Order: sequence, then structure tokens, then C-alpha cells
Amino acid sequence: MIARRLIGGIGCTLLPLALAMPASSWAGDQQGDKQVEVLNWWTSGSEAQALGVLKSDLAEQGIGWKNMPVAGGAGTNAMAVLRSRVTSGNPPTAAQVLGFDARDWAQRGALTYLDDVAQSQSWGEVFPAAIKNFAQHEGHWIGAPFEVHSTNWVWANKSLMDELGIEQPESWDDFIASMQKAQEAGYLGLAYGGQPWQDATVFENVVLATGGADFYRQAFIELDESALNSDTMVQAFDRMRELLQYKDDNSPGRDWNLATAMVINGKALYQIMGDWAKGEFINGDLQPGQDFMCFRTPGTQEAVTFNSDLMIMFQTDNEQQRELQSTMARAIASPEFQIAFSQAKGSVPARMDLAADQLDACAAKGYQQVKAAADHNTLMGSMAHGYAAQASVKNAVFDIVSSFVNSSMPSDTAAEQLAMAVQGAQS
Ligand code: GAL
Repeated sequence: MIARRLIGGIGCTLLPLALAMPASSWAGDQQGDKQVEVLNWWTSGSEAQALGVLKSDLAEQGIGWKNMPVAGGAGTNAMAVLRSRVTSGNPPTAAQVLGFDARDWAQRGALTYLDDVAQSQSWGEVFPAAIKNFAQHEGHWIGAPFEVHSTNWVWANKSLMDELGIEQPESWDDFIASMQKAQEAGYLGLAYGGQPWQDATVFENVVLATGGADFYRQAFIELDESALNSDTMVQAFDRMRELLQYKDDNSPGRDWNLATAMVINGKALYQIMGDWAKGEFINGDLQPGQDFMCFRTPGTQEAVTFNSDLMIMFQTDNEQQRELQSTMARAIASPEFQIAFSQAKGSVPARMDLAADQLDACAAKGYQQVKAAADHNTLMGSMAHGYAAQASVKNAVFDIVSSFVNSSMPSDTAAEQLAMAVQGAQS
């Protein structure tokens, strides 16, 4: 079944296309079949399962799938490949991207508008403002939101907690004390993947735990120099240094899902990571509350740092491809898909109008927290995952945080450098 056509005149209503993009260059053109090519970075076991939900949905509608996976957490590698595909005039049908990257492609006039589908499914009413802010551009829908992920989570091995008599820590000090206990008993306190985006994911947790929601917003969203180079930021770097004592020496370069496996296998007590990590537990048939625990990073309970994967579609003159893009957008935003996808991915639905009864205990709690944070203005974009600041700023933060992690840089130097790098990245 093919969905209704998008509104006519797509090419005319967009901003001038800044990039060379011949109309006949999309993948399905040469094949003449009903197939979509989708660029994404979902290569771990649980991510591939989640992507499979979309693939099967489309297969049921007679649509083929050409996967274009680019390994590398948080999409750092995928974005470079996407840029080269688009600039060489050969964009995929669609791509998974994060907030500021979606906005960037829209500003270049590269995207198909999804307004028809959005209107027929009332996207304006079901997606929260924090997501609409990125899924819409100048009044047009430019991306279909897959889910809401949040980054301020700790994933814990339940039997290790029981064995060591560790209760869920409520404060930063308790959190550190529990890792110390694990370390003294011969386990690792913290499973850690030493890649810049993972350093930054952990660091944004520490910043939120140290300064609270207002400070996080001031530093990472408003990019206020006086917050970036402040005593609070110095304290956050001190706490980061403290945390790093509980990781192992083999962390450099480790993928996030391998760090998750260390918690699953009982080598490490905790991992601080977005809820895509939960997908790996679920994919291994493990149950929350029974085999593993999930809790908000101590000190961050009042807020949620979020990101949402958006499926953006690239402009094409080919009518069949446009119909397929429309069909894909409609599938992603449907209530059934939003639940089934999140069950595999570890996320919660991006739609706010669904019942939580089919979600596991962590997701049910997370969904409610996301809704509450959206109501209280504490649903804040993740810096590490493209929802706090443009890519140049994000990359500047990655550089400073990773240099700090991989050296003995003093905390006050790190805060100074952070403020300078963020300022430089904006000019
Ligand atoms: C995030 C993305 C998630 C997950 C994670 C690890 O940026 O939103 O879907 O894939 O990276 O790669």
C-alpha cells in the first residue's frame, strides 16, 4: 500500500538547494523497484533489532530495504558519510540524524517536507515542543521522530548490587561510595567506553548532577561563558576525575555496547549511558528489576537530558521515491510502531499520547519522567547527542572533555579551555 502523495511543488517551496543534487541520482532510480535506501548508525544487536521493526513494516507494504549502516556511536562517522553522499549528488532516500544536523540539512534546502503525513497524523498535537523544535523548520515538518532517548541514566548489574549489599544510590556521594565498594571487592565500579562522544555523554551527566537543570541550560544550551568557565564547572571536572578512578585501563576506543556487556556479564557494577544501553539488556532477554536496575544518575532526578533520532528524507524529483518517503514517515509516527520500536531500542515513544502498559518498567518510568520534564521545562537537549548546540560547538566540547579524560589536565584549566573552545566554535 502506498501512502498519499506529498503536496506538489516540493522543489519550488524549498530554499534554493545549496548542494549539487541531480534529480535522477537516488539509489532506487537505476533499479526502478520499490526500495528505500536508509543511512543509519544502528549496528549493535539491539539497534539492528529495532531497525528491523521498520524494515518489516515496510516489507509488509511491499517495499524493499537497502541498508546503509555506518558504524560509530552517536553518528559521528555516519554524518561524514552522509555529507559525502549528498555533496556528490547521490543522497540516500532517508537518513537517521539528530536535532541540529536535521536543522542544518533543512537550512540547506536538501529535505523533503513531510507536511501531508504530519497533518494526517496530527504530529503537531502528539509530539512535545522540545522535539517539534527540531522536527520542524520554518513551519514545515522535516523529520519523523523515532523515539525519545535520554542520557541521564545509570545501568546496574542487579546481582552485583545484591552480592555487595548496595542500595540504589540517591546522592553523588553514595554513588561514588558504591563504586568504591565494588572496586574493593575486585569488580569494576564503572564500565566505560573511551570515545569522545561517550566521554561527553558521561560528562553531561556530571554537569547536570553538579549544577542542576538551570546550570546545565546556561552552560550547554545558552553557551554562557560565565557558566562554562565557572566554579561549578570546575567542580564538575573534579567529579569527572573522581569517576574516572572507577574505570579500567582498557577503556580507550571501547564501543558503548561492549561497555554495556561488562555490566551484563558482571564485570562492572554500573554504566552511565543513554537508554539505548537498555536495548542490549533486553536483547539478551534480561529483565529490569530482576537482572538489571535502571535509575537516573544521582543528582539529576529533577531533569531529563534527551535526544531523538529523526528520519529525514532527501529531496527527489522521482514521484515513486517521494511516495515511499511518505510511507516511511507515516510508519514511523504510527502508535504501534512507536511502541514496538522503543521496546527493542530501549527508548520511550516520541508521541506523548500513548499508554505505557506495553513498556517495560524502566521505559514506563522514563516515559512518565519525560512527560513531567516536558511540562516543567526541564526536558533539555543532550550536548553529546546533537540537541544542545550546533555540531561545531558539540565537537569543541568533545575535544576538551576527551583531552581532560586522557590527560592529567587540571579542572580549572579544563573549564577555561571549554569556555574558549565553545566561543571559538561559534565564530
Ligand atoms: C545516539 C542515538 C541512539 C544510539 C546511540 C548510540 O546518538 O540517538 O539511537 O544509536 O547514539 O549509537
